[in-house]
Amino acid sequence: MPEKPKLLITRRLRDAVQARAARDYQVLTNDEDRVFSRAELIEKCQQVDAVLPCHSEHFSADVIAALPKSLRIIANHSVGVDHVDLVAAKDAGIVVTNTPDVLSDATAEIAMLCMLGAARRGAEGDAMVRAGKWDFWSPAFMVGRQVSGKRFGVLGMGRVGQVAAERARGFGMEIHYHNRKPLPDHLAKGAVFHDSIEDLFAHADVLSLHCPSTPETKGIINSKTIAMLPDRAILVNTARGNLVDEDALVAALESGKLFAAGLDVFCNEPGGNQRISALNNVFLLPHIGSATEETRDAMGFRALDNLDAYFQGKEPGDRVA
Ligand code: DGY
Repeated sequence: MPEKPKLLITRRLRDAVQARAARDYQVLTNDEDRVFSRAELIEKCQQVDAVLPCHSEHFSADVIAALPKSLRIIANHSVGVDHVDLVAAKDAGIVVTNTPDVLSDATAEIAMLCMLGAARRGAEGDAMVRAGKWDFWSPAFMVGRQVSGKRFGVLGMGRVGQVAAERARGFGMEIHYHNRKPLPDHLAKGAVFHDSIEDLFAHADVLSLHCPSTPETKGIINSKTIAMLPDRAILVNTARGNLVDEDALVAALESGKLFAAGLDVFCNEPGGNQRISALNNVFLLPHIGSATEETRDAMGFRALDNLDAYFQGKEPGDRVA
C-alpha cells in the first residue's frame, strides 16, 4: 500500500473532519490552535506534501517561494483566497483550492443578523439590559430603522450574495445589485441590476458587501463611495475587512451619514478596530460568518475532497490556481 500523503492542518478543525483526515493522511496538527508565525508556517510546511490552511495563514509570494518542492497543494478551508498569492502559487506549480457553496447559507444568515442588529440597535439594547441599565421605556425609546420595504443593495451577487438577497426578500426588501455582468433571470429572481457602483449605491438603503477582496475592491467603501449612499443608509460587511476604509466608516457613522453598520469582518483580525467598537451605532461580530456546526463540517470535508481528488490524480473540484 502506498504511503499516505503528509498533510499539515494549520488550525483545529471539527472532530469528524480531523478523524477523516487522520484516516487518509499522515497529519501534522496544530494542537494549540494558534496562528503560526511566518517562520513557523514555512518550517512546518517543509515536512509535508500538502497543507490545509484557513484564512488566518498568509501565503504571500515570499512564503510560497520558501515552500519545499514537495508541497504540491494548498487546500484552503475558506471560500476567500485573498490570503494566498495565487499568481505566485501558479508560478510555483502549486495547486490551490477553496470551499465555495457550502458556507453561503451560514454567511447569509450572519449578514441578516448584522443587518437587523444594526437597523434595530441590537448591540445597544443587549448591552443596556445586561448592564442593568434598562430603567426607562417610552414610544420614543430605542427607535431603529425598519428594513421591510427598504432596498437591499448587494455588491457582488455571487453565491453568498444571492442567498443573502433571498433572505432579505423574506423581510420584504427590494433587491438591487451590482456585478460585472447581470445574472440570468432564474438567478436574479427580479433583483434590479445596476451597471455601476454609483448607481447601486444610490439605490441601497442597506448595502451588503459580498465581493472578494482583490486589489480592485480593497477600500471600495471610502468617503467618496459612502457619499453616494442615501442618507442614513446601513452598511453590512460579512466579506472582508479591507473592503472598507475604516476611518471613512467611523466618520460616516459619527456624522450620521450612515445610520449604522453591521460588521463581521475588520481590517485587523483578530482584534477589530477600537474606534469602531467605541460607537453605539454598530453591531459587531468576530468573523463568524461560516461558524456553524454544519458549515464547518462541510468546509472541512470539502477541503479534504479537494485533497483526495488531487492525490488520486484527478482535477480538484474547487481549483482556483
Ligand atoms: C471564508 O471562507 O472566506 C470565511 O471568511 C472563513 O474563512
